[in-house]
Amino acid sequence: MGSTQPTFTNPATTSLLELVEARRTHYALKAESPIADEAIEHLVRTAVLHVPSSFNTQTSRVVLLLKEEHQKVWDIALAALEGLVVAGAVPRETFEAQTKPKLQAFRAAYGTVLFFVDYEALAGIKEKFAIYADKFDPFALESNAMSQYLVWTALQAEGLGANLQHYSPLIDAQIQQQWDLPASWKLDAQLVFGTPTAAPGEKTFAPIEDRFKVFGK
Ligand SMILES: Cc1cc2nc3c(=O)[nH]c(=O)nc-3n(C[C@H](O)[C@H](O)[C@H](O)COP(=O)(O)O)c2cc1C
Repeated sequence: MGSTQPTFTNPATTSLLELVEARRTHYALKAESPIADEAIEHLVRTAVLHVPSSFNTQTSRVVLLLKEEHQKVWDIALAALEGLVVAGAVPRETFEAQTKPKLQAFRAAYGTVLFFVDYEALAGIKEKFAIYADKFDPFALESNAMSQYLVWTALQAEGLGANLQHYSPLIDAQIQQQWDLPASWKLDAQLVFGTPTAAPGEKTFAPIEDRFKVFGK
């Protein structure tokens, strides 16, 4: 945006930045993938393995769900939200007009990547570096977010579109039970992906000059 194109020594840098620009939030998705499941799996696995974490604590946990397994996430969310309607916490009209169609659109996609943080895995390091103890939980979440961003960007690079959702803690217990996941895995985000059926919405940008400074150039 707005700056002249510099020269990079590695053409992959330009490609990387182009992918950064291309990544968007896609809500209109269908249950198809232009790439093989193995390619999606490899991409997510690479993120889990190589994305950095503070003190190399490796606290991110990730579950890739495809097709029918993916649909179960959104059936769980639909049931949970319906439960809130029955309990009187969400008006029926809001659920029918907004929540339900939104969740059904997620369900109509191809897959969901569930991102968790295992905060319990930090017990040892919190003890060892007591002075940083209160920093490790946020660091773990930041590392998890890096994985989310990498997977999101890489899926888009392969012709998939994705959107990032947060239905925790509403769906946590059911998710853990459905896939028999360790209790210490704390759900953070759900990345829904599929083949885009429409262009993403318009995006506006606050002036970069207000958000970025450089000194010593
Ligand atoms: C940390 C984070 C949390 C987000 N949470 C949600 C969410 O819960 N639901 C949703 O629909 N979009 C969510 N988004 C998507 C943002 O609204 C979206 O990325 C932003 O508007 C910029 O649009 P873009 O993704 O097309 O660049 C989230 C994005 C980030 C980075």
